[in-house]
Amino acid sequence: MSSNIAQNISNAIPPVIKNAVPGFVKKFYREVFYGPPASPSYKINGTHSFRKERLLMEKLHKTGERFIPTVLDFPPTIRIETTTRCNLTCTHCPNSVLSDVEGFLEDIDTGVYKKIIDEVAKEAPHIRVRPFGGGEPLFRKDMEDLIRYAHEKGLTNLSLNTNGTLLVKSRRKKLIEGGLNHIEVSIDAATPETYLKIRQSKLFNRLVENTLSYIEEAKAHDSDNKIDVSFVYQKDNQHELEMFQEFWTGKADVVLIRDYHQHNNLVDDHGRHNQQSFKYRHPCPYLWDRFIIHTNGLVKFCEYDWKGEHILGDIRKNTIKEIWQGENFRKLRQMHVDGTFDYPYCKNCVDWAEPKWW
Ligand SMILES: C[S@@+](CC[C@H](N)C(=O)[O-])C[C@H]1O[C@@H](n2cnc3c(N)ncnc32)[C@H](O)[C@@H]1O
Ligand code: SF4
Repeated sequence: MSSNIAQNISNAIPPVIKNAVPGFVKKFYREVFYGPPASPSYKINGTHSFRKERLLMEKLHKTGERFIPTVLDFPPTIRIETTTRCNLTCTHCPNSVLSDVEGFLEDIDTGVYKKIIDEVAKEAPHIRVRPFGGGEPLFRKDMEDLIRYAHEKGLTNLSLNTNGTLLVKSRRKKLIEGGLNHIEVSIDAATPETYLKIRQSKLFNRLVENTLSYIEEAKAHDSDNKIDVSFVYQKDNQHELEMFQEFWTGKADVVLIRDYHQHNNLVDDHGRHNQQSFKYRHPCPYLWDRFIIHTNGLVKFCEYDWKGEHILGDIRKNTIKEIWQGENFRKLRQMHVDGTFDYPYCKNCVDWAEPKWW
């Protein structure tokens, strides 16, 4: 099940620690770890591969420099697990494994969701808010209402990932009119056969039609609406990478090619291309970049912690700002800055070398 390569090298302390990093590195990290900016520099009609970032990371390792991010007052990205329920069972996704775990399949309480949105509206309405998690957001029948609520509160960077199979006309209309700013449709294949293999679904053609229609309808409504399509590069679809890029380039705003990762061992390494080849470890960008709220309102720090077992706060009791600037986050960041990675979940992580993945 696991790849232990990471553990063998993860405790090495970097040879040089510098805060003052060259311009290209700063730019790279800003783009890689703080997400695509909601600005005109957002790359249109291009292919975006996380492997490019990996090459840059390798370059940084050669110079012996280490990245230490700055803590911002408020998280640049907030992800809210609106639901962990899903209509698919993709082979690369832990959802299929965890759906049997008692209490896993849940929705966040709408009142808790609104409390989160209200604070973002007051503190930082322009940060990226992603109201989805380890499930299919459109499985919630009120997803459009949740988007509309946030939009009406003044949030300007609302972003969803969806498998697209439920993106039917009436829902597309409500999402677009409700104020969604960005959508990523996860596709992973260029043919129905490969789609069936990876996403275990026969809905490939419907999904492609849904996505093409969304692109057309969103552009007609609002030219600022961004639509990306993604492909998690893995052994079962690598032969279709070019076909996928060719088909979607010029249609979607960004064709996103992601590397396969193991969700810190929740799925096996069958699809993995990259090995953890770095000699030393950087502080994990997630601790500076995002704030993740589990369906039960508890705040986790890691995208791979699907079960919500590593908790830094409770959004029902405290504000985002209190938790983000609080002792638990501070201590964990310090371990990463010190290069000790003493927290066991981080110490044993098999995915730390992967750049940001959603
Ligand atoms: C967990 S899904 C949730 C949203 C929605 N259900 C969907 O499929 O887009 C979010 C993203 O994670 C990606 N993902 C799932 N497992 C992955 C893995 N092992 N490696 C890389 N990305 C993965 C999916 O392809 C999708 O783009
Ligand atoms: S990748 Fe998305 S659609 Fe596939 S099982 Fe995971 S949550 Fe569901």
